[in-house]
Amino acid sequence: MVTEGARVAVPVAPHFEIDDPDIGRIEARGLLIARRFGALHVYANVCRHIPLSLDLGDGEVAALEPDAFLCHHHGARYRVRDGRCLSGPCEGESLVPLEHELEGGELVVVLPGT
Ligand code: FES
Repeated sequence: MVTEGARVAVPVAPHFEIDDPDIGRIEARGLLIARRFGALHVYANVCRHIPLSLDLGDGEVAALEPDAFLCHHHGARYRVRDGRCLSGPCEGESLVPLEHELEGGELVVVLPGT
């Protein structure tokens, strides 16, 4: 059992480089991770329209534009830098950001409260 506020080191796929500018994919199934303009952005991979992951179970999240994640279910577009839904059925809502830091090249995420 994992408790609220726990710090969890997240394994990142071996081919992923944390500085990779490509946001056309996610690297941990429960997270959306992208680096933009020098900042690392980490969100829970849960759409605000219906609580489904943005991908279709294959771990791939398309980026039709440089600054937006796309939910593959009904087309919601989320801005990378703040997680805000720009268009789609949950427009105006936001992805849940996760507190995080890099420790020795490893991504450590603090689990949110409920
Ligand atoms: S579940 Fe994401 S837009 Fe509907």
